[in-house]
Amino acid sequence: METATPRKVEHQQTDRGYVPVYATGVVEQPWSSYSRTDHEVWDTLFARQCEMLPGRACQEFLDGVKKFGLGDGGIPKFADINQVLAKATGWELVAVEGLLPDEVFFDHLANRRFPVSWWIRKPEQLDYLSEPDLFHDLFGHVPLLLNPVFADYMQAYGRGGMKAHAIGPEALMNLTRLYWYTVEFGLIDTREGMRIYGAGIVSSKGESIYCLDADAPNRIGFDLERVMNTRYRIDTYQQTYFVIDSFEQLFEATTPDFTPIYARLREKTPHAAADVLEDADRVFHYGSHEGFATNADT
Ligand SMILES: [Fe+2]
Repeated sequence: METATPRKVEHQQTDRGYVPVYATGVVEQPWSSYSRTDHEVWDTLFARQCEMLPGRACQEFLDGVKKFGLGDGGIPKFADINQVLAKATGWELVAVEGLLPDEVFFDHLANRRFPVSWWIRKPEQLDYLSEPDLFHDLFGHVPLLLNPVFADYMQAYGRGGMKAHAIGPEALMNLTRLYWYTVEFGLIDTREGMRIYGAGIVSSKGESIYCLDADAPNRIGFDLERVMNTRYRIDTYQQTYFVIDSFEQLFEATTPDFTPIYARLREKTPHAAADVLEDADRVFHYGSHEGFATNADT
C-alpha cells in the first residue's frame, strides 16, 4: 500500500531555513495507512540509532526512548505517546503534513504541542533527507520532552518565537540560530563525558559519530549571544557544536527578555560557522576545519 504524499504549499523562509512549507492544519495520524515498508523504515532507523547512541546520547534522551516504547516494533501511535507525555510534562504531539510557517510552529510550542510530520522517509533516504520526517521529529525531538526542564525550555522558545516574529526578521534569525545550535545540534557536557541532545544529531547516524569523534568541527561552550550571532550550515554536518553544562543552564540563560540582545546584535557582524573567538570562547575542542566549505553558511 502506498501512503499519501504530504501536501506541500510553497517554499518559505522559516525557523529552519528556506524550506518547503506544508499545509498548516493538524491532522489525524493516518496510522492504518502506513505500509509495511514504512514500518520497516522506522524499525531499521530505530535499530541503527539505538545500537550506536548509548555512550553518545545523553541519558535523559535514552531514558525517554525507553519510556515511550519507541522500539516496540513499527511506527508508534501518537495517541499512545501522548498518554505518557501528558502525564509527565503536559506536552502533546500533533500530526502535521510537514514543516510549518514560523508563527504556526511557535504557537504550537508555546502551548506545549509538538508538531510531528506523520510521513516517513523512503528506504532509499535512510541516510539523508532534506526535510524533517516522522523519524526525525519523533525519535529526534520527543524523548527529551519527558525532561521537565527541557520541556519548559521548548515552551519558552515558542513564546520567544512569537515575540521575535513581531520584532522583525533579524530578531527571528537570531532566535533561529539558538534553536539550531541547541534543540537541533546541541551537545551537553556530563559527568560521564560529552553527550548529544540535539535532535538533528540523534536522528542521523553519520552526525552522531562525527559530532563527538571528528577532529574537524569546533566544540565550544554555550554562550547565548555568541550562539545567536553565529551562522550555521544546512547542507553539511555542523562546523561548530555548542556545549551546554546542563539543561538548567540552557533554561536559565534563555529566561531574560531577548529584546536588548536583538538590538545589540543588529550592530554586529555575525560569526561564520567555523569561527573560534580566541579571547572569548570556552573551547572544548579546537577543530582542524579539515574539508570545510566556507562559502555557504546560512
Ligand atoms: Fe527538528
